[in-house]
Amino acid sequence: MIIAGNWKMFRGPEPSALAGLDAIVCPPYTRLRECVEAGLMTYAQNVHWESEGAYTGEISAPMLLELGVAGSLVGHSERRQYFGETDETVAKRTRAALTAGLKVIACVGELRAERESGETENVLRRQLSVLEPHPNLVLAYEPVWAIGTGLTATPEMAQEAHAFIKSLLDAPVLYGGSVKADNAAGLLAQPDVDGALVGGASLDVESFKAICQAAERTRS
Ligand code: PGA
Repeated sequence: MIIAGNWKMFRGPEPSALAGLDAIVCPPYTRLRECVEAGLMTYAQNVHWESEGAYTGEISAPMLLELGVAGSLVGHSERRQYFGETDETVAKRTRAALTAGLKVIACVGELRAERESGETENVLRRQLSVLEPHPNLVLAYEPVWAIGTGLTATPEMAQEAHAFIKSLLDAPVLYGGSVKADNAAGLLAQPDVDGALVGGASLDVESFKAICQAAERTRS
């Protein structure tokens, strides 16, 4: 069971408040070092496919590794929506990061209109077609309509999507999209839900700890 907190472009909690928690944190770049030094399992929110070069605003896998960062998110829907991330760039980032020795959480998920028009499986098939299984690759199923909206997929919807994803690519699959302390247990209880990628609720230490505890109870 893997719980990861995506702080997005928020400062986030004090790393010391999370010490000892069995969870991944994905802080903004400016706090990576602090999180690493506090002993947290620390991931970046993005990673470029070249190791260096004229790519203003990007960061490379060797640079992250030098800081002690263990992995990176790739292909978050906000990258896809606002920053021109495509299936092809997701594939390049993922491949380069894994080759360099980072762990990767690659995100997939359908838009509301795609779900409503029955396109969910086609979208997931397309997004996953560029990825290959790797021991350090974890997927996150994040229906875009559930991110930051307070709308959560029901545990049954999550289970159905996760089982479909696993039929295409053999990897652990985290659920993301408005995971909160009060809905985490139901989602994590599903057989193919291997953890959660938590946005908003990871900014609040108490909620994030409660989600980690729900995961702990599901494990046992
Ligand atoms: P949310 O974000 O939990 O705030 O919906 C999840 C994510 O974007 O990873």
